[in-house]
Amino acid sequence: MTRLRAIRAENVRQSKTSRSDFALDTIVLGDCLEVLAGVPDESVDLTVFSPPYDGIREYTGGWQLDYAALADQLLRVTKDGGIAAVVIGDGTKNFAKSLTTFRWAVDWVDRAGWRLFECCVYGRHGNPGAWWSQRFRVDHEYILLFLKGARPRRFNKEPLMVNSKHAGKIYSGTDRLTNGGFKKIEPKAVNSKKCRGTIWNYATSNTEGNRLKLQHPATFPDQLAEDLILCFSEPGDVVLDPMVGSGTTAVMAYRHERRYLGIEISSEYHGIGTKRLAEERDRKRGMLL
Ligand SMILES: C[S@@+](CC[C@H](N)C(=O)[O-])C[C@H]1O[C@@H](n2cnc3c(N)ncnc32)[C@H](O)[C@@H]1O
Repeated sequence: MTRLRAIRAENVRQSKTSRSDFALDTIVLGDCLEVLAGVPDESVDLTVFSPPYDGIREYTGGWQLDYAALADQLLRVTKDGGIAAVVIGDGTKNFAKSLTTFRWAVDWVDRAGWRLFECCVYGRHGNPGAWWSQRFRVDHEYILLFLKGARPRRFNKEPLMVNSKHAGKIYSGTDRLTNGGFKKIEPKAVNSKKCRGTIWNYATSNTEGNRLKLQHPATFPDQLAEDLILCFSEPGDVVLDPMVGSGTTAVMAYRHERRYLGIEISSEYHGIGTKRLAEERDRKRGMLL
């Protein structure tokens, strides 16, 4: 065993003995690896988060994180069939991509023991960069969907259905078979909705008009977190975001009656997330009155 592996194994072993201060429905100020050490085994249904990657944004910290140790801790706290959704991309330096996303995927699967359920593309609408003359304007990130165990414990595609472009029109012709042959299709009307594919498009958070959220430099859209929560969890389930930033995952989990745990290392961002949750509580109360 390498020294680094031995340290990680020791961290996981030690963390199993000190889990008395685990609380839900809150954003904890602290380092995610330290806080996760207090989270019991197999207690989380879904994790949604976006890590800082490749120095693309300047945060108020400059922290280093052991991403392999994070993979181990998240696997430990996740229930069988649970999902960890990682929203991540690759920086570009000297005309080459960093491959950070791909390194994460290979490490989490080959070493840590997660399985890659799907790799979706998050199409970012309204992304700047049109002025670059020698490279493309990068308008995507990835949503790596890691699965613990044999199959997802939750999978509800219904809320993620998209409108069919040709709804109501009569569809006929031929389908291509896997052996290359053709099969004639009986004419039928195209449904108004169809199953979501693996490219998920959202306008960037800048267009959401949430000034409080925009005080954080690198947020993902509310709807991205919402879609993941609706698909991979049910009311009452526990949703975790170990790097919750402005609180997006926690707010969406709370909105949809999930239990939540957010962790954030920066007191400034922790303050933003906590305020957003208070606003969401007021909004919900207002709806009940
Ligand atoms: C990309 S942002 C997440 C933004 C979030 N998804 C949102 O919509 O607001 C990454 C966050 O990770 C936090 N962070 C970095 N290292 C951390 C650590 N070791 N533990 C907890 N949070 C950390 C940063 O402060 C930053 O707020």
